[in-house]
Amino acid sequence: MSVVKINVLTVPAEARERLEDRFANRAGAVESSDGFEWFELLRPVEGIDSYLVYTRWRSEEDFQAWQDGQDFARGHSGGGSGMAPAATGSHVWTFEVVTQAAAKS
Ligand code: HEM
Repeated sequence: MSVVKINVLTVPAEARERLEDRFANRAGAVESSDGFEWFELLRPVEGIDSYLVYTRWRSEEDFQAWQDGQDFARGHSGGGSGMAPAATGSHVWTFEVVTQAAAKS
């Protein structure tokens, strides 16, 4: 089963818009990375103040290869926007997918 890697971002209230703008203008490189399955930027509403960057991968090795490779560097270069970093802290949570379901179409 897949692995889920969630980057937990601490973002001051005044920097939220800048963070979302950066993601709106993101490189779009992760989509082409081997073993990539899913990505979402989650805006906190209730229960936690952190933004979550949810990513899902075929395997731990695929995630590590992305993180060590050029696509990660490209995805975190700010796209030459010159915008100051928005997050003041981050850490990664790791999960294994145990069970999953998708809507019947
Ligand atoms: C040092 C910690 C990190 C910070 C502060 C950070 C912050 C950001 C920001 C601001 C962006 C938007 C693009 C930009 O402005 O450069 C971005 C892109 C992204 N981040 Fe992170 N990030 C970090 C590490 C990670 C990690 C460990 C993961 C995976 C769990 C991750 C997943 C992603 C993904 C999937 C994108 C989109 C890349 C693309 O479009 O190709 N980030 N990150």
